[in-house]
Amino acid sequence: MDTIIFGTGGLGRALAAALVERGEPAPRLLGRPALGHHRASDLQAAEVVFEASRGEAVVPNVATALAAGCRRFVIATTGWDDARPAVDQALRAHGAAAVAAPNFSLGVVLFSRLVETATALFGAVEAFDPYLVEWHRRTKVDRPSGTARELSRRILAAHPAKRRLVDPCRDGPPMSDELDVAVIRAGASPGMHLVGFDAPGETVELRLTARDRSAYAAGALAAADWLVRERRGPGLHPFDPVVDELLERSRRSVAPISA
Ligand SMILES: NC(=O)c1ccc[n+]([C@@H]2O[C@H](COP(=O)([O-])OP(=O)(O)OC[C@H]3O[C@@H](n4cnc5c(N)ncnc54)[C@H](OP(=O)(O)O)[C@@H]3O)[C@@H](O)[C@H]2O)c1
Repeated sequence: MDTIIFGTGGLGRALAAALVERGEPAPRLLGRPALGHHRASDLQAAEVVFEASRGEAVVPNVATALAAGCRRFVIATTGWDDARPAVDQALRAHGAAAVAAPNFSLGVVLFSRLVETATALFGAVEAFDPYLVEWHRRTKVDRPSGTARELSRRILAAHPAKRRLVDPCRDGPPMSDELDVAVIRAGASPGMHLVGFDAPGETVELRLTARDRSAYAAGALAAADWLVRERRGPGLHPFDPVVDELLERSRRSVAPISA
């Protein structure tokens, strides 16, 4: 698989290592461009483009890769939610497809589904109050993390009483229809997400802790394989169908998925 990786940070390097480890040709790893933007004439089309840079770079990087003839994208970068319609439109205009997710860890997808189920269960018991805590390295730019946003979206959708997030700038206790999300930026943590349900006499917590970026890289490669395996419809795709296909293949072959 011939690949381009936008982003030479921790995730870009983890993706490059994962590709090389499974015997793929060395990817073209592109960092912050000296001129402020990449040029299509400097890129040759690649079978798959991985976007792992910064939120504000997603639109120009995808546009440049499209102009260079690239048609399959795995967008792992977070912090570009407002640009989703523009990216989707650009992809469709070129008949290109992208899998985009704030978190490519298979564990996180399964965790998110568990959180949804847990929210429905505990939400039926008024005494249990849900909350979310996320902790990432000091230098992470966006807050809350893309994964925390997705988890809170799922909690709000599954809970009978919670309708919105607590405004972090407001003093005083949360309203009964508000979900509190706590963000920690300290040290070097590659990512910790905790969803809890607190009642007067007990607390139930679900916690997912990333040890390094290998799980993100493995999932991003699975998304690339999904794009290459079959021609997918143009535009943005979530990670869920990739995971569903992996689970289905695992069920059929009775072989566990390697994450
Ligand atoms: N979806 C997932 O599973 C997942 C997992 C982990 C991380 N992420 C997200 O992926 C992104 C990268 O994560 P990271 O941990 O590798 O962050 P990082 O260590 O900050 O690396 C980002 C790199 O991209 C470079 N960059 C900036 N503009 C660029 C451009 N136009 N083209 C190419 N590279 C550019 C940055 O250079 P400068 O330092 O000069 O700005 C930096 O080296 C973040 O948005 C993060 O939230 C997603």
